[in-house]
Amino acid sequence: MKKTKVIYPGSFDPFTLGHLDMVQRISKIFDDIVIGVLVNPEKKMLFSLEERKEMIRNALYEANIGHVIVEDFNGLLIDFAKDQKATVIARGIRTSKDFDYELQMAHANRHLDKMIETIFLPTSVEYSYISSTIIKQIGLFGGDITALVPAVNILQIAERLKENE
Ligand code: COA
Repeated sequence: MKKTKVIYPGSFDPFTLGHLDMVQRISKIFDDIVIGVLVNPEKKMLFSLEERKEMIRNALYEANIGHVIVEDFNGLLIDFAKDQKATVIARGIRTSKDFDYELQMAHANRHLDKMIETIFLPTSVEYSYISSTIIKQIGLFGGDITALVPAVNILQIAERLKENE
């Protein structure tokens, strides 16, 4: 496929192995990837923006992914994509519920800019039930999150959840 810049956006509070799996698979298709970390004042976050970006960078380093950039954005995703000169937005689909929501978002984004395409990738089946909220719930009640988040971030997540008990 030709060299195309792709945005993989999300809140990543925290970044999961499901997200990492998506980045690994997107990087098999595209050379130029930007992970867009949303500054979302409406969502109460467990981790600050800087912490989320650092945890993603650490996870990429641990997984030996050297060519992916991590940036934050606020406002419209399509404006961020334009600022980055990206022409593709990549989204993971876990369930049919995701698909309904993502389709609506893709249509809205296409309405805003027809030059930017959204592509959907089915998540790997072993990560299809994971969300950042589920990880926070499991961790909060002392459950094992080791198979759900990058190893390099486990301690930081467990400690933050403990502080928030
Ligand atoms: N593996 C594991 N978890 C995944 C996942 C995967 N592959 N894909 C998604 N998730 C989880 C996320 O962690 C998140 O969990 P949470 O709700 O428990 O926090 C949940 O699924 C939803 O993820 P997502 O749809 O990526 O939501 P988000 O809030 O992380 O990011 C944006 C959504 C950033 C793409 C979207 O809000 C956006 O574009 N905002 C900007 C405003 C805009 O332009 N809107 C559209 C035009 S109107």
